[in-house]
Amino acid sequence: MTQSSASAPPSDGIVVGAELVDDVLVVTVDNPPVNALGYPVRAGLARALDRAEAESEVRAVVLIGAGRHFIGGADIKEFGLPRERPFVSELCARLEELDKPVVAAVHGAALGGGLEVAVSAHYRVATATAFFGLPEVQLGLLPGSGGTQRVPRLVGVPAALDLMLTGRRLSAQEAFELGLVDRLTDEVDPRAAGLAYARELLASGTGPRPTRELTGRLIDDADTRRTLAEARERLTRTDRHLLSPRLIVDAVEAALDLPFDQALALERALFQQCEQSSQRSGLVHAFFAERATARIPEAATGTPRQLETAGVIGGGTMGAGIALALLNAGLTVTMVERDAESAARGAAKVAQVLAAQVAKGRLSAAERAERERRFSTTTDYADLARADIVIEAVFEDMAVKKAVFSALDRACRPGAILASNTSYLDLDEIAASTSRPGDVIGLHFFAPAHIMRLLEVVVTDRTEPDVVVTAFELAGRMNKVAVRAGVCDGFIGNRILNVYRRAADYLIADGASPYQIDSALRDFGYPMGPFEVSDLSGGDIGYANRRRLDATRDPQDRYVHIADRIAERGWYGQKTGRGWYRYPDGARRGTPDPEVLAIVDQERRRAGITPRDFSDEEILRRYLAAMVNEAAAAVADGTALRPSDVDAVFVHGFGFPRFRGGPMKYADTVGPATILADLQEFAREDPRFWKPTPLLAQLVADGRTFDHLNHER
Ligand code: NAI
Repeated sequence: MTQSSASAPPSDGIVVGAELVDDVLVVTVDNPPVNALGYPVRAGLARALDRAEAESEVRAVVLIGAGRHFIGGADIKEFGLPRERPFVSELCARLEELDKPVVAAVHGAALGGGLEVAVSAHYRVATATAFFGLPEVQLGLLPGSGGTQRVPRLVGVPAALDLMLTGRRLSAQEAFELGLVDRLTDEVDPRAAGLAYARELLASGTGPRPTRELTGRLIDDADTRRTLAEARERLTRTDRHLLSPRLIVDAVEAALDLPFDQALALERALFQQCEQSSQRSGLVHAFFAERATARIPEAATGTPRQLETAGVIGGGTMGAGIALALLNAGLTVTMVERDAESAARGAAKVAQVLAAQVAKGRLSAAERAERERRFSTTTDYADLARADIVIEAVFEDMAVKKAVFSALDRACRPGAILASNTSYLDLDEIAASTSRPGDVIGLHFFAPAHIMRLLEVVVTDRTEPDVVVTAFELAGRMNKVAVRAGVCDGFIGNRILNVYRRAADYLIADGASPYQIDSALRDFGYPMGPFEVSDLSGGDIGYANRRRLDATRDPQDRYVHIADRIAERGWYGQKTGRGWYRYPDGARRGTPDPEVLAIVDQERRRAGITPRDFSDEEILRRYLAAMVNEAAAAVADGTALRPSDVDAVFVHGFGFPRFRGGPMKYADTVGPATILADLQEFAREDPRFWKPTPLLAQLVADGRTFDHLNHER
């Protein structure tokens, strides 16, 4: 590839090269790292098209990308800015209309606008590294440069709809099977592959083949209409808050109903509707928040340590999940348990998930066997002598953790990273119990650890910078979103959770039902409400945590006993068949339980509370004000580096609706002053709990938002 760009060196800021090879114009997009379609590329493509149209020597055009990709999509640096012409849609139309055959030779990414360009060419060839996707939906958009019309013409309506609604990626092979590309090539160099294809077309006298004219796969039958109707129906259940999936269905359906140009005009109008929507702004925020988490102070000074072999202490819920995440990332994993029986249980959990992944077609039998070869269990810490990193996931008990860390201190080689998956415990204390606190770090996974994308990287005052950087790199290998957190009770996520969960408990005590609260939060966009989540993860966890906090809880703080009364009956949730809800016969969805409501009533009477009604709106105001207020405190004291890190934690670890961007983005959307006013209003009942964080009050006084802080940090 470097050769092809060297032969047509785009220089002096020219990021699109055009080189005449005999009678074929090779147009090379060279805008590292992914050849994004920023303004200079669009202008360059327009110039190359001018040349292709004007010069009679040009008999065919080959379009390729320099470096590792074809075209990775829109330029994210231009998000939110007014777009300058030429638009991608205009370039696509010109490519399609060219009276000389155009071949797109794709290697690496052809995503978003890149795919729309590729399908506007007359013919497509893909190398083995090529992959295709229309990820616009993930940013609250739809393909707006003809993709909703041209892709269905190549692959049919159902497959096109699937691509656009999921944003999933297709391999070269899948793209070929669907009809998105005409041929696959063994050639690694797209330039050579494209030239060969173009010469063949010229030799056989094959002319342009505009995609807009290919209507053979636009089959308008009952099946297709049913697919569209089912998609709409599913979206009202799963994504009812999102605009872009619904409009994608409308746009794709237009391929059946409208002439091409009218359908394009509709696509444009729907695209603009998406662009102006608040879901779009939330999704874009979430996208940038996720990228910003990698900006950590240690990045400047630390070089990552090498990680090949890992130890995991504990084979329970978390240990097994962490082992799987490490195996998926390519590490060799040794799991240490207390005794042979527990070790066998841990190994069985790992084996069970791998087998299920094979059954679902997510893993091949060979990949499973290879992972199993990299996995072993032991009861002997001496087997960790060569480990590069060890992650502890034993019981949440300081004495047990300290005993484990002294054993690790003795067993592990110098330079090995010693990590804890503790949810709440003081990492400074754990680190101080070893002779090497600089190597100790918190790696807080979320259950199930091999699936949930969030990883809180908890840094103590003594953690070495290279240990932090290594943790971030490991997170990348595990495909996780790492967020740096400081030491405090519960780090970023659980610390804030504890506060808004208290707000929910107060709501119940004062008159709301847990079912109303769950339903209000589902309406807000959460997949589950807090009490459903508690039933899923186990009421015993929260109960144990509240008992841990008994010793330090200020007696003046309001304390609601309802959750304790439920847990004391052994009603832990799904695993015990009842919790806040009942789960008859192992049901996954719970049904409201009148006995729970009776307990709630009893506790209200005991506390002398006359219950009152809460609207869903007030429930949300209280829940979110408590969340935002504590989040502001976590930002103010440096537990979180910046507000958008809190957003990333809540979107990836706590089910906060991604289309709202996160709690801090939500606060900016309604206005920090609104949150402050809510806190002040609620403080009239309970000034201790609803005390506004000074940072929030300061932002309001300065007329600033949390997002201003994102740009300073
Ligand atoms: P668990 O009770 O399922 O598993 C703990 C395992 O550790 C058991 O299999 C036990 O046999 C083993 N173990 C205990 N002492 C040991 C020792 N000295 N040496 C070797 N193995 C030992 O607990 P779970 O839920 O996996 O939690 C583990 C840790 O992860 C806790 O610190 C917890 O706070 C944290 N965590 C839990 C989450 C959850 O959702 N369950 C989420 C994030 C963190």
